[in-house]
Order: sequence, then C-alpha cells, then structure tokens
Amino acid sequence: DMGPYDHFMQKEIFEQPSAVANTLEMVFNAQSVSPGLFGNAAEKIFSKTHSLLILACGTSYHAGLVARYWMESVAGLPCAVEIASEYRYRNPVADPHTLVVGISQSGETADTLAAMNYAKQLGHLHSLAICNVAESALIRQTDLRFLTRAGPEIGVASTKAFTTQLASLLLLTVLLAKMRNKLSIEKEREMIAMLRHLPAALQASLQIEPEVQEWSQRFSEKRHALFLGRGMHYPIAMEGALKLKEISYIHAEAYASGELKHGPLALVDRDMPVVAIAPNDQLLGKLKSNLQEVNARGGELYVFADADTEIEESDSLHVIRLAEHAGILSPILHTIPLQLLAYHVALVKGTDVDKPRNLAKAVTVE
Ligand code: M6R
Repeated sequence: DMGPYDHFMQKEIFEQPSAVANTLEMVFNAQSVSPGLFGNAAEKIFSKTHSLLILACGTSYHAGLVARYWMESVAGLPCAVEIASEYRYRNPVADPHTLVVGISQSGETADTLAAMNYAKQLGHLHSLAICNVAESALIRQTDLRFLTRAGPEIGVASTKAFTTQLASLLLLTVLLAKMRNKLSIEKEREMIAMLRHLPAALQASLQIEPEVQEWSQRFSEKRHALFLGRGMHYPIAMEGALKLKEISYIHAEAYASGELKHGPLALVDRDMPVVAIAPNDQLLGKLKSNLQEVNARGGELYVFADADTEIEESDSLHVIRLAEHAGILSPILHTIPLQLLAYHVALVKGTDVDKPRNLAKAVTVE
C-alpha cells in the first residue's frame, strides 16, 4: 500500500523517522545501551574485541565507512571497512579478535555472505550481522546480530535501510566505547538523548523537500555531477552520488574535497554541477576553500549546509540549509537531502524510480 505516495522510494524516504525510532526503541526504553541487544554471547565477545572489520556492498558499505569515523573517535577502536566482493579474493591477514561485522539490508547479498565465510575460514573467531531481514542467510550464519527495524524496503535504491544501519552502528559504537571505558555514564546518557532526538531531527530534514525539488530541473539537464564531502560526510557524498546514478542515470562521482586539486578539478566547468555537504563542523573552513577553487573555475555549486553554517550565497553558489547541526549524528541527517535530490531528478527525467534498469533489489548472484 502506497498511501499518499507515488513511489515506494518516496514512501521509504518519508518513513525514515519511524524506521529509526523502531530500530532504537529498546534503547529508548532502557536509557542505557547493553550488550544483550546484540545477542546472548555479545558481552563475552565484545570484551575481547580489539578491532573491527566491516564487510558490505553498495549503500551498506557506505554505512560502514561512516561507522569507521565513529569507532575511531568515540570508541578508540581500529576499524577497517572493505567492499565484500574485493575482500573475498584477497589474502588478508586475519586477527582472531577482530570482530567481523557484515552489514546488509537483505541479508542475502552473495558477495557479503561469501566474504563473511571467507573471514571465518581465515581465522576470525567472531561475527556480527547488522541486517534488516530476520530470516536471512546472514543472520543465520553470524554469532551476533542486530536487526534494523526499517520494515520491508521495496525500492531498489536503498534509503531507510541506510539510515537505520547508521543508527545501529552508532549504538554499537556507544556500547563498545562504554565497555572500553571510553565513555562516562553522563556521556552515554548524552548520546542516548541525541539518538532519542534523531527521529524528530529526521522529520525536520524532510521539510526541505520543496527547496530540493526546485534544484531538480536544472540537475536533470546535466550529464555529470560531482559530490564533495569531508570527514564522516565523505561517505555521505558517496551515497548521494550512488543514489543519483542509480535512479536518474546521471553520471556522478564523489570525492573527499581535499582530493579535488589532485585531479578532478580539471573536470570543473559550467556544465559540471558540484554538490557539497557543508555541515557546521571543524572541517568547514577547509571545505570552503575547496569550494572557492570550484567557483574560480566557473563551476556551479549546490551546497547542503546547516542552519548556522556561515556561507554566502551567490549566482553560482546555491545553499539549502538543514534545520540544525546534529554533531556526531550529522551524517544521518545530511543523507536526507541527497536522497530527495536523486528522487526528484529521476522524476523530472521520468525514469523508473523503484526499479532502475539493470539492477536487482537483492544481488544474490556473484
Ligand atoms: O542488501 P544489501 O544491503 O546487502 O545490498 C547491498 C547493495 O546491493 C545495495 O545497497 C545497493 O547498492 C543498493 N541498490 C543501493 O541503493
């Protein structure tokens, strides 16, 4: 049932506040994060975990990339993130006490399942699944699990699965930080309070839809686009580029903005729109000088900022602001405008939003 929506993707974008609230429900009730949320053996396994290896594909891989920033900065845990289809054909060195984390909406992605098995064969002792489907193969083959409670995701382009994966990964970060004595009780409470606010913050982000829609006509006339972000928003730029490619068929690439001058700046001209994620964080100053480099080459900039991001609009620099700056949760909120942009550009182009050409919802073959 589509309710008031025209497409499953649109419905699923707008379901994100409740999908995240459902995913975090048990934590909100308990006021603290306990290992039991991840399975009976979690306490024992987590107390021995000294690093993480995240394996995933596509959008789920992008969630893993964001988690790496959180794991390092909040929990002080080394964290590697690998594309499952690459990992399974390398000869990496296993570490028994590295926890292997598989992230998958479907839990049936062939490459992710094979990579998880391979990690075990190599000698990793323990595994955890973050997955949206309780009866999936991934859930059956891991020691520990956390279910994202996004509900069925029908649109091929993943939306609510991604934001619920991020919420779950932040929860895991808080738990591991706590178990490693990196987080005081007050700080844990603070983090939970931030998570509790997340559904409302997502709701507020969705309000910018009409502004994003205004940009979609101009975008739909382009053949290429660059997406820029820094720090934990770089993977969000990657996710935005993937969404645009998948459903609007516009070629889009994401770069960590510091990399611009090492090559991609040569591409920038009036026909190359540049989308930038500009949260009001400590990297903003750096990002702004990257954006000036684009401006100086005649590039057109589309900037997603926070309410309090200091950035000046001009004929070639357009700004849409999110309602607030969400600190460590910012990557989750900054996902919303990029999903909406891809959706509205696809609508203008008249593509099959829910079933883009050549793609399947679950990639169960290699
Ligand atoms: O079900 P999974 O999360 O394992 O799927 C992984 C990718 O196939 C998936 O995220 C894909 O990239 C989406 N179509 C992206 O929108």
